[in-house]
Amino acid sequence: MQTTFSIIKPDAVKLGNAGKILAILEGAGFRIKALRMLKLSQSQAEGFYAVHRERPFFGSLVKFMTEGSVIVMALEREDAVLKLREVMGATNPANAADGTIRKLFAESIERNSIHGSDAPETAAEELKYFFTTQELNQI
Ligand code: CMP
Repeated sequence: MQTTFSIIKPDAVKLGNAGKILAILEGAGFRIKALRMLKLSQSQAEGFYAVHRERPFFGSLVKFMTEGSVIVMALEREDAVLKLREVMGATNPANAADGTIRKLFAESIERNSIHGSDAPETAAEELKYFFTTQELNQI
């Protein structure tokens, strides 16, 4: 079993797609180990996406991620990191496969409804960024 980290982004929460996304994730065999709704502060969003600091879209990404509530989650299943990326679809919804979350719900490459960690090491860092060890081990 592996645990990965995911965010349902402000576009999806605002459009009322959060429940549908959670149902798709559970239907794909993920167990929700921890979940919280919050509004990211500017420094939280900047810190989370620090790896993209030099990209031209960084400012716009931080603005988008702080515009409304998000849902942060710890998701468990076999091969969770890879499987979540499969279920999410490509970053740009124009390139996402049919039936993927981004194909179904994303508006653009930026407003793309969901984030998922890109590797087990990143998942460990991102889980720690939002959850305590106690929260991650309570169920
Ligand atoms: P995510 O998987 O959360 O990782 C970084 C985010 O930056 C990505 O999803 C998109 O929301 C955003 N992003 C990536 N590439 C671009 C781009 N070319 N233009 C705007 N936003 C982008």
